[in-house]
Amino acid sequence: MASNDDERAPLLGEPVEQNLARDASLNGDAAKHDANRWRALRVRLITHGALIVLFIVALVLVLFFWDNVGRAIGALPKNPERAARRLLESAPVIDGHIDLPILVRSRYHNNVSAVDLNSQMPGHVDIPRLREGKVGGFFWSTYVGCPEESYEDDHYDFLNATWRVRDTLEQIDVSKLLITKYSDTFELALTSEDIKYTIRRGKIASLLGVEGGHQLGNSIAVLRQYQELGVRYVTLTHTCHNAFADSCGLQPGIKPKWGGLSKLGYALIREMNRIGVLVDLSHTSDDTARQALKYSKAPVIWSHSSARAVHNVPRNVPDDILELVGTGPNQTDAVVMVNFAPFFVADPGEANVQTVADHVEHIANVTGKAHVGLGSDFDGIGDVPEGLEDVSKYPALIAEMYRRGWDGFELAGLTGRNLLRVMEGAERVSKDLQRAGAEPAYDVYDQREDL
Ligand SMILES: *[C@@H]1O[C@H](CO)[C@@H](O)[C@H](O)[C@H]1NC(C)=O
Ligand SMILES: *[C@@H]1O[C@H](CO)[C@@H](O)[C@H](O)[C@H]1NC(C)=O
Ligand SMILES: *[C@@H]1O[C@H](CO)[C@@H](O)[C@H](O)[C@H]1NC(C)=O
Ligand SMILES: *[C@@H]1O[C@H](CO)[C@@H](O)[C@H](O)[C@H]1NC(C)=O
Ligand SMILES: [Zn+2]
Repeated sequence: MASNDDERAPLLGEPVEQNLARDASLNGDAAKHDANRWRALRVRLITHGALIVLFIVALVLVLFFWDNVGRAIGALPKNPERAARRLLESAPVIDGHIDLPILVRSRYHNNVSAVDLNSQMPGHVDIPRLREGKVGGFFWSTYVGCPEESYEDDHYDFLNATWRVRDTLEQIDVSKLLITKYSDTFELALTSEDIKYTIRRGKIASLLGVEGGHQLGNSIAVLRQYQELGVRYVTLTHTCHNAFADSCGLQPGIKPKWGGLSKLGYALIREMNRIGVLVDLSHTSDDTARQALKYSKAPVIWSHSSARAVHNVPRNVPDDILELVGTGPNQTDAVVMVNFAPFFVADPGEANVQTVADHVEHIANVTGKAHVGLGSDFDGIGDVPEGLEDVSKYPALIAEMYRRGWDGFELAGLTGRNLLRVMEGAERVSKDLQRAGAEPAYDVYDQREDL
């Protein structure tokens, strides 16, 4: 044993004090023994001291670089503004409704050469501000106004609105020309996969939406051709009724014509489901929304609507309809993308980041956080909320939701992933219907005499 120990000693070493103690006992010198013990103690103190200093230094480093540690494990910083910016780096905003194309029509007569999106544009949207606001994508609203006559006139037959198809084509054209002119920034996106791919490469995914059935010239064939051109949502109505469905009008609202969807409106939704065009329920009457929500096989959207329980105007979504949104029994998956227009948000002078956040929070309270998104209506609204003046200001709203306890996952849903899920759902339904051999809708508006 002893010899064995001796052999091991040089290799493994021995605790210092034992080593010293053995020396001392061999010499039999008590005083020297004491001195050695003090030396041992000192060595021990120095070792422990060094360890403590090392620990403190490590602690300071961890605290100092906490943000980076957090980033590595996906946590957000405490400071709401920094948290919002961090979140938006990986989950940028995909806005449901931006009206840049109508601004280019009304201000520039569709002359894209005269438009400089790299400098400060009139209105709320240009490239520097989109970048500042961490926008990863948006629906370019291709909008043409309602015919005046159709608001209230019982006898209006929706037959002479076909030049609106021309103007819609011009709106689609001007959007595509701008996307091409600024192809370093924008890229046309046709699918949820396109959006993700475009964002990964640091570009802004550009989707097309048509803002009202009146822009279809009452024809489902026109819907199919818009889809071919890249349109991925159609708002069933704008502020007027059309051959497909009733609108809610503006304030105080309008008398219904069909009591929701017309027969042709049901056929339109069938066709939208089949070809993968999202049903957009903003601007529709409550009956239209209820019926469409129930009838659509695909998830639907409200591209730019807020909550009526927070501010009571017809354009906002009431709670009894929000309760139909979800994945439970008798519910349909959807995303309600909150509109920033002060008139829809709050009483005059009271629209700001907090009151817009109240709409986001209320919708989430009723539907769950997975069913709310952002649909600012920028460039389509005259006034803006305080603190949300243009597309550079989304981070302020995200910071506010973070302050209200939303975590990174929930915020990423709000900024875009809820919309992506809904799009994926609609793409699946379209694929399934086509695989099952669903026929195109050949229904024709019954007031037409030419067909
Ligand atoms: C379009 O705008 C450009 C730049 O302002 C101008 O030079 C050109 O004449 C315009 N074209 C038309 C047809 O108005
Ligand atoms: C639309 O047609 C109706 C008759 O069908 C006519 O009274 C009305 O003036 C027309 N409106 C426009 C804007 O052309
Ligand atoms: C769903 O709707 C059906 C038919 O309208 C009804 O009988 C049923 O009670 C509803 N289920 C729930 C959970 O609301
Ligand atoms: C949402 O629900 C929470 C918890 O019940 C409540 O504190 C909050 O006031 C609600 N928010 C809105 C805007 O209604
Ligand atoms: Zn609108």
